[in-house]
Amino acid sequence: MERHRRLALRTGHSMPALGLGTWQLTHDAVPVLEDALRLGYRMIDTSCDYRTQAAVGEAIRASEIDRSDLFVVTKVEENDDAYEATRRNLRELGLEYADLVLIHRPPPGGEVGTDLWTGLMRARRDGLTRDIGVSNYSTAQIESLVTKACEVPVVNQIEWSPFGWSSDMLDYCTLRGIVVQACCPLTRATRLDDDVLVALAAEYGRTPAQILLRWDVQLGVAPVPRAAQHAHLLENLAVLDFELSGAHMEELEELNEHYSALGSLPYV
Ligand SMILES: NC(=O)c1ccc[n+]([C@@H]2O[C@H](COP(=O)([O-])OP(=O)(O)OC[C@H]3O[C@@H](n4cnc5c(N)ncnc54)[C@H](OP(=O)(O)O)[C@@H]3O)[C@@H](O)[C@H]2O)c1
Repeated sequence: MERHRRLALRTGHSMPALGLGTWQLTHDAVPVLEDALRLGYRMIDTSCDYRTQAAVGEAIRASEIDRSDLFVVTKVEENDDAYEATRRNLRELGLEYADLVLIHRPPPGGEVGTDLWTGLMRARRDGLTRDIGVSNYSTAQIESLVTKACEVPVVNQIEWSPFGWSSDMLDYCTLRGIVVQACCPLTRATRLDDDVLVALAAEYGRTPAQILLRWDVQLGVAPVPRAAQHAHLLENLAVLDFELSGAHMEELEELNEHYSALGSLPYV
């Protein structure tokens, strides 16, 4: 079924093509997460600093969905001991393992997180996570990490939308076999009234949010939109069953102005 579409990771594992973000999902998080799992979401993105890990674990246990059918992404911070932080995250989640642990952002001062990576490799070796990756890394930072750690991350999670993206990053990740995971894929709802988006939504009988997410899916990018409202959860999941034309994909690509809802794109 289309809604169970998955992306292959270099390690032989696979990841759902779309997931649920949980930043700021602190109010009534458990019912929202339970609703999402009931609707069919199978990938959840969290982090120790989102304060949603306990709720994610609680909703997963209440769902009684087989753990192997779920894909849980969490993150370690740049000043963490990555191994210990992964163990702490798992304790908060109440899970035995994560599917993917990311370095949340490169450490300051030109470091690329070699020690963090080593800690994550150990966590993976000990079965605490299936895969490891990075977030908010530029292509140069990934390349430097690859040189030092002799391993390519499976994912780079970065802010990504037609208003702010990079063909260089996409080409690089395709070449290296890295999946781009799109955070803030809905621009934190700041650009949903864009004229081009609204016109395309009308043409396809969809919503602007669905056009944004479908653009990701067709690029092979995995968005993790956050939604607290049931209607939004439903709407966002229903993007795996329609297709944008090549001309409309290009029209969306041309909206790029390196826009960032977070302040700046760390990879441009
Ligand atoms: N790695 C990183 O550094 C990093 C940074 C930022 C975010 N992230 C991850 O990426 C996830 C997504 O980013 P985000 O939460 O910042 O923002 P986002 O997903 O771009 O936008 C969320 C906003 O869009 C609204 N929304 C959701 N679906 C909608 C729809 N169909 N129509 C209209 N509005 C809709 C939500 O409203 P309701 O909640 O009211 O439904 C919410 O206000 C985060 O939750 C987090 O997991 C990672």
